[in-house]
Amino acid sequence: MKNQLLVAALAATISFGVRAEAPIVIKFSHVVTMDTPKGQAAELFKTKAEKLTKGRVRVEVYANSSLYKDKDEMEALQNGTVQMLAPSLGKLGPFGVPEFELFELPYLFPTKDALYKVTDGPIGKSLLAKLEPKGIVGLAYWDNGFKVMSANKPIHAPADFKGLKWRVQSASKVLDSQTRLLGATPLVTNFADVYPGMKSGAIDGADNPPSNMYSMKMYEVQKYLTVTNHAYMGYAVIANKKFWDGLPPDIRAALESALRDATAYEKAISQVDNDRSMDGMKQAGKTTFYTPTPAEDAAFRKTLLPIQQQTEARIGKDLLMSINKTVK
Ligand code: LMR
Repeated sequence: MKNQLLVAALAATISFGVRAEAPIVIKFSHVVTMDTPKGQAAELFKTKAEKLTKGRVRVEVYANSSLYKDKDEMEALQNGTVQMLAPSLGKLGPFGVPEFELFELPYLFPTKDALYKVTDGPIGKSLLAKLEPKGIVGLAYWDNGFKVMSANKPIHAPADFKGLKWRVQSASKVLDSQTRLLGATPLVTNFADVYPGMKSGAIDGADNPPSNMYSMKMYEVQKYLTVTNHAYMGYAVIANKKFWDGLPPDIRAALESALRDATAYEKAISQVDNDRSMDGMKQAGKTTFYTPTPAEDAAFRKTLLPIQQQTEARIGKDLLMSINKTVK
């Protein structure tokens, strides 16, 4: 009997000990599907993070707006309900750091390599640091390539946008100007609500990287796609600052290492996935594809390039000048 009591007491102690070491939970919320570059990289981050911390961290990834939609997830990060996100860069502008809208500027980045010179260099680092007063740590940049335009009518020239209800992903002033200069009306819409909006006719068109169009089946409800590649879409992997700074240093170092691997992977698959998405949409046969002629491309540039100058006043002439120099 005495022995049995001893065993029971020991078991209780052990189970108490185990409970005291419950894993640190990271809720990582995002709005795209699991098979996109961001979705796959978030899954890899989870696997690596849990392995490197030997289970002391559990990462719960909530894909496809299953926990929060765009704006709500930002609030959830700030109040600590979720610990990590990877919103697109343009969504950070209306959130109080307008400098991030520069990533959405039409025709600013001639190539992805030019873009990487900005994100991987001192400018990228200094921009992430601007998130800190908002209670956010910027940890990495992820990539989703250049955007194309889709609508239910052919789009060959700025005049074709007249009167269209155009989905924009946030209240970014750059996207607002882009839409208005083209003669369309911007409709700020959560990512999860784009497909239903297109289907019901509440939304006439939108610009997206192919990967987002394909994974959300937008091509089923948009008859025309124009390969404009007019602007970039990338992400910032961000965390609640109080949570991140409060982590034991060895755990934080392991998570940083997991994120380095996930970031390299994300960058390696993003173009491949976007190319595959274009092929997938072509094979589906529901959309007519169009590539602007050089003259049409020039007309788009002429209409949209003035946004760079408008933006200077808000984000600083020097910053825009140093980006223009970096990407040359
Ligand atoms: C969008 O809202 O269109 C994108 O930011 C979604 C995403 O995360 O790629």
